Amino acid sequence: MLHLPSVRFCSVLPIPIYDQKSRIKLVIVGVALLIGAATVIYTNLLVQRLSEREQKQIDLYAKTQRYLINTEEESNVSFLYDEIIEANTTIPVIWADDSGYPLDAQNLPVPKGLSETARVSYLQQEMLKMKEQHPPIVIEIGGGVRNFIYYKESSLLTQLRFYPLVQLAIIGCLGVIAYFAFSYSRRAEQNRVWVGLAKETAHQLGTPLSSLVGWQAYLRESERFRGEPIVEELGKDIRRLEIITERFSNIGSVPVLKDENILRVTQNAISYLQSRVSRKVSFEIKTDLPTDTPAQVNIPLFDWVIENICKNAVDAMDGRGSITIHLRRPVRNKSQIAIDITDTGKGIPKSKLESVFLPGYTTKKRGWGLGLALAKRIIENYHKGRLFVKWSEVGRGTTFRVILNG
Ligand SMILES: Nc1ncnc2c1ncn2[C@@H]1O[C@H](COP(=O)(O)OP(=O)(O)OP(=O)(O)O)[C@@H](O)[C@H]1O
Ligand SMILES: [Mg+2]
Repeated sequence: MLHLPSVRFCSVLPIPIYDQKSRIKLVIVGVALLIGAATVIYTNLLVQRLSEREQKQIDLYAKTQRYLINTEEESNVSFLYDEIIEANTTIPVIWADDSGYPLDAQNLPVPKGLSETARVSYLQQEMLKMKEQHPPIVIEIGGGVRNFIYYKESSLLTQLRFYPLVQLAIIGCLGVIAYFAFSYSRRAEQNRVWVGLAKETAHQLGTPLSSLVGWQAYLRESERFRGEPIVEELGKDIRRLEIITERFSNIGSVPVLKDENILRVTQNAISYLQSRVSRKVSFEIKTDLPTDTPAQVNIPLFDWVIENICKNAVDAMDGRGSITIHLRRPVRNKSQIAIDITDTGKGIPKSKLESVFLPGYTTKKRGWGLGLALAKRIIENYHKGRLFVKWSEVGRGTTFRVILNG
């Protein structure tokens, strides 16, 4: 088992925090779907009513036309023309003769400036579309001659039919914008918390650390403790604290990335860990890379990532098994370097492959659930690389892949 860090506290973060979050998300999506469905149903009801009204209006229109054609007393009933025929300012209508020639049109946006032939062909095309919606109404005008009234639903009705879709699309767009704005501000806030906490920790550690360095120098020189192993042990702890302070200070500022020999850096990180974990855990480093291959890293932060991943691996194997670190060029991008860390531990269930990187997600009694969240942040935000679970099988093991820029 690892000796570091030596002081552990019980986790105070509630484990089911992410289950609760996904339940809330489900409720929000459910309510949104209900509102959407209610809007569509209500608008369809309105469309149906308006459609029935238009049908009645057109029937009355046709009856009036029939009456006007067959009546002798045109002057007495001319009000019918004004009140019913002219009053139809919404439903598009085409009046055509037996041969399908359009005689008159109402409420149609016939383009201006058309020649007579073009106008007729435009109206005939409209008649075809109208026929698809409703069969034309036949008007007997005497002597066996028949005329036809073609009509279609008003543009108001058509717009109303599409209104819920437009409304849902707008709400959807607003939802997406709100989601991105919200997650952007949440991420910015998280960044401020991480950076602020790290800076503060580095700052707080600095004072007792310099005092400890002073004490060690004093003890080394004192008659009583000169040459005592305890002074050198104290030195090791001081070095460890310095590494921790350096890590926090790098997280709290813009870390400097340098071209480092990635094989050597990895070997150093592993040999440091190897001396601190159970002998029942074996480490092996494999590589196909030339020994001097460089990668852009900040050593204190990179070490922290390797330490977090390997500590988890040791925990997943209950302190017994093997950890293999394989460095290679990823197949897709040969300018990058992939570091695969494979353990023979208990594995991660498929449904949790993403959750393990969420801050606060832990399955351990004494875990904070911060190790992988921090590692991902270090690799993706500070090194512009990637960290993900490449493979995992319950009961067999896990491979985490770190991708760095070469
Ligand atoms: N190699 C692994 N094999 C199996 N499960 C793993 C492995 N690495 C991580 N996990 C799972 O992911 C969880 C989150 O890991 P993470 O390092 O973020 O937190 P933690 O180890 O629980 O606590 P902390 O690192 O903060 O002390 C772990 O609790 C564990 O369930
Ligand atoms: Mg961990």
